[in-house]
This record gives sequence, C-alpha cells and structure tokens, in this order.
Amino acid sequence: MEIMVNSLKDTEQLGKIIGRCLGKGDVLCLDGDLGVGKTAMTQFIAKEFGVKEYITSPTFNIIKEYEGCLPFYHMDVYRLDSIDDMCDLGYEEYIYSEGVTVIEWSKKIEGILPEERINIEIKRIDDDRRVLYICGNGKTYDKLVRELSKL
Ligand SMILES: Nc1ncnc2c1ncn2[C@@H]1O[C@H](COP(=O)(O)OP(=O)(O)OP(=O)(O)O)[C@@H](O)[C@H]1O
Ligand SMILES: [Mg+2]
Repeated sequence: MEIMVNSLKDTEQLGKIIGRCLGKGDVLCLDGDLGVGKTAMTQFIAKEFGVKEYITSPTFNIIKEYEGCLPFYHMDVYRLDSIDDMCDLGYEEYIYSEGVTVIEWSKKIEGILPEERINIEIKRIDDDRRVLYICGNGKTYDKLVRELSKL
C-alpha cells in the first residue's frame, strides 16, 4: 500500500501507528535514499516502545540496542561489505529474538531476512513530503494494513 506524508509531523503520526502494531520478534525494514527519513521514522517508532534515548544512525557499529518495554534493535547496514559480516555480528540473535528490529538499508541483506516482515520504502517528493510504499508478510503486516486503511 501507498501512503503520502506531508510533514515530519505526519511521519511521527505514522511512526506511532506502526509502533503500536509491532510486537515481540517483529522485523521492520526501511529503505530509501540517503537522508530520506529512515532514522527519523525509527525514532518515532522507538518512542512507542518507551525508548527514551535519542536514536542516531548506527552506521559504524551496524547494530545498536535500546532499552524499551521490549528490547529495541536498530540496524543500519549501509556500510556492510558482505552478508558474511552480518553473520559475524550474530544478526540472527537479534532478528529471531523477542525484541523488535528495525533495519535501515535492508535491501543489502534481503537474502537473510525472515519471510515474515514489513518493508517500507520511502521516497522523497520535496523537503517535507514523502511517499511510503508498504508491503510485507505475516500477522503484524496484516494488522498494520488494517490500521492504515482506517486513515
Ligand atoms: N516527512 C518527513 N519524514 C521524515 N523526515 C523528514 C520529513 N520531512 C523532513 N524530514 C527531514 O529529513 C531528514 C531525514 O534524515 P534521516 O537521518 O532520518 O534520514 P535517513 O534516511 O536515516 O538517512 P541515512 O540514509 O543517511 O541513514 C531529517 O532531517 C528530517 O527532519
Ligand atoms: Mg539513517
């Protein structure tokens, strides 16, 4: 499905809805050009899990863990050289855990992602406006589509 956001505030609203749909073990993938708003969206989602810390792109360490009502894992695989590096990082322990995982630049590691996940591709229209293309598989994705259809 396709959603239009007109401002950062709209992205915050959407992040709230997405955050409320996500639960134990869910994986959300965020893709789109540099500076399009992947980390901003992650921040708004994390807020729903009671993450107080400010989220920055974990570009150099790839994976960052935050304390919330569930463990919240934020990955940015932009600088990853190969899928082998992802294995070395023990990514499975995060993705297949009780926590929630948000992955920026997920397309780079598509081959190792679980079938059940939500994918959001963000496209920039101008300074403030974005289009979000949302697709996925699984119960949480179905729930999200139901919630977003109410908008
Ligand atoms: N509607 C919007 N949604 C999201 N971000 C927006 C929006 N309008 C403006 N912005 C701005 O766009 C920027 C997005 O930066 P952000 O770090 O989230 O991008 P990113 O996709 O994570 O980049 P990178 O690929 O470098 O990790 C922020 O400065 C944010 O304030
Ligand atoms: Mg980012």
